[in-house]
Parts: sequence; C-alpha cells; structure tokens
Amino acid sequence: METMLTLALAKGRLAEQTFDLLEHMGIDCAEARSPGRQLVLWDRAANIRFILVKPSDVPTYVEHGVADLGVVGKDTLLEAGRPLYELLDLGFGKCRLCVAGYPEPTDTTVSHATFRVATKYPAVARRWWQAQDKAIEIIELHGSVELGPVIGLSDVILDIVESGSTLRANGLTVLEEVCEVSARLVCNRVSLKTKRERIRWLLDGLEKQMNPAPAPNGSD
Ligand code: PRP
Repeated sequence: METMLTLALAKGRLAEQTFDLLEHMGIDCAEARSPGRQLVLWDRAANIRFILVKPSDVPTYVEHGVADLGVVGKDTLLEAGRPLYELLDLGFGKCRLCVAGYPEPTDTTVSHATFRVATKYPAVARRWWQAQDKAIEIIELHGSVELGPVIGLSDVILDIVESGSTLRANGLTVLEEVCEVSARLVCNRVSLKTKRERIRWLLDGLEKQMNPAPAPNGSD
C-alpha cells in the first residue's frame, strides 16, 4: 500500500481545476467531486484523502500537518503568513491583488482623518502601507469590499481583481498593483521529509500535466 497523502483543497473552482490535473495523473476524484455532506473524500486505491475546506482554512490544516499538501491562492497564503513550503505555481486561478478606488474624488468621497482601507486582507494591507510609511486604518470586510469607497466607508480597497468588472460596475479603478495571484501547491514541512518520495511523485505528476512533453515529430 502506498503511503497515505491528505490534500486540503480550497472549495470551489480551485478544487475543480485541481481535480482536472489529478485525474489526468490517474487519481480518482469522483468521490471528491460529489461530496454531498461528506467532509473526507477518498481515492482508496491510491490511498489519497481529500478534505474540502474554506480557502482561508487551507494553510491552517497544512501547517498543523493534518493535511500533507494544500491547494490555495497566493492571496490567501500571503494573508495567512504560515510557515509552509510552496512547491508549485499551478497556473490557474489567476488574478491580481490591487489597491482600488475612485480615479478622482467624487461627491460620495468622504474625507477621513486617517486613510481608510477596506479589505479581506488586513495583514497584506498592513504590510503594504507600512512599507510606504503611511498610516492607515484597516476596515476588515468579508465580501462585497467594493462597497467601501462607494458608500463612503473607506478611501480605497485592497482586494483581488480578476476581470475588473466589479470595479467597473461601481465606477472604481485599479490604483496600484500589489502582486499577481494564482493557485499554489503548498506542503507541510514535516511531511516533506517523512513522505518525500510520495510527495515527489505527486509533484512530478502535476508538473508533467502542466508542461506536457512535446509530441514526437512535432505532431499532436
Ligand atoms: C471577488 C473579489 C471581487 C471580485 C473580483 O469577490 O473580492 O469582489 O471577486 O472579480 P472581478 O474582477 O472579476 O469582478 P467574490 O466574487 O469572491 O465575492 P465577495 O465579494 O462576496 O467576496
């Protein structure tokens, strides 16, 4: 029997795209794709266990070693700041972490004593403005962050921008780009030592799926 691996995946699109890659490697993700209310899903033949969790909880499971590996966005990793090994950029789930706001002050712009930032990423925001020596007040929100400047709660937001349509629909624009974001494969530090071979196998398999060898004679 192969060494057991536990993978913590961020529920939703990132998990679906991870299953696509794993299935091409021959891993059976049928149970994990249709979990119902079940929280632990298996490919028993391969001895791989999946847990599907909120994105922000993926680093927690992996740090504590109850999951050997995790797949989650770089934005979530930056915010969590956990001591994990980042093994691979999976190349999907691409977006940008940006500072956004009105291009010019508008009628709804409220002047605050301290520069106010609405965000789901307080730690990233704190570091970003600390590096610029700028005092800010962070207003932590858990969704619809764009409302911040629109309704006069904050001067700007720090949030992910994918298509840009939410910003456009609300008259906002990107003011600064903090970093590019995509899905990452992360690993528990101890697992990387104790399950080295098995993790190497999974990593190699994923890398092959992402960079398939060119077809012989240049044909498909
Ligand atoms: C995210 C993000 C932005 C939006 C960006 O929100 O917080 O609001 O997507 O995508 P876009 O550039 O393609 O418009 P999400 O859809 O996760 O919902 P939330 O606001 O409830 O967090």
